[in-house]
Amino acid sequence: MIYILLGLPGAGKGTQGELLSKKLGIPKVSTGDILRDAVRRATPLGQKAKEAMEKGQLVSDDIVIGIVEEKLKSRDCEKGCILDGFPRNLRQAQALEEFGLPLKAIYIKVPEDEVVRRLSARRVCPNCGAVYNLITSPPKKEGICDRCGTPLIQREDDREEVVRERIKVYREQTEPIVDYYRRRNALVEVDGQGSVEEVFSRLVEAI
Ligand code: AP5
Repeated sequence: MIYILLGLPGAGKGTQGELLSKKLGIPKVSTGDILRDAVRRATPLGQKAKEAMEKGQLVSDDIVIGIVEEKLKSRDCEKGCILDGFPRNLRQAQALEEFGLPLKAIYIKVPEDEVVRRLSARRVCPNCGAVYNLITSPPKKEGICDRCGTPLIQREDDREEVVRERIKVYREQTEPIVDYYRRRNALVEVDGQGSVEEVFSRLVEAI
């Protein structure tokens, strides 16, 4: 089974995806993480993706479909995987369907003002990828990753004006695929408000 996490930027897809990956014993594939890593290492992929990501816009379909295709064909994903951040528009959803694998989309619903609050307080570890929130899940030592001791950073695209653009892109391009999966009876909806643990137990119940 391929699980697809849908929801506004900051809805908790990455956070819930990590927990679900541990519970089900299948990998989480985050196109955002793969692209950010490529940008950080300035690879050819990163150079192509950088400008769109900095503006909060989508990276070209051909690039991300290629990334996901490679992952889905790898041994890691032979028992399935959790897709975080893909598909993000109808073309990507159709490309995913062409693999012919069973799909379940999980729509994590959080109001817009809440995601804006969450994203402004998000800090991430540039070394191990751990995600913190200054309000709800701060690191034990201020500004330092609990897991690996690296100084935490704010994601470039968590600046307020970029967050606004990401939400606009989500509304225009990604929201329509919620209906796409609903019409195929492949959608479950989960209230994404409350603690991480509360959301996760609702999510597990729903799937
Ligand atoms: P991507 O990395 O996918 O960003 P996103 O979808 O905007 O999602 P986020 O990572 O911001 O949020 P999230 O829902 O994972 O929330 P999180 O769990 O971190 O994409 C980035 C960019 O890459 C795109 O803009 C685009 O340019 C490009 N890209 C990626 N995929 C692409 C694709 N398929 N096609 C084209 N381009 C693509 O949580 C957020 C914060 O809230 C954290 O601080 C967390 O600790 C906190 N939090 C989580 N849950 C709770 C809770 N229950 N209560 C309180 N706080 C919580």
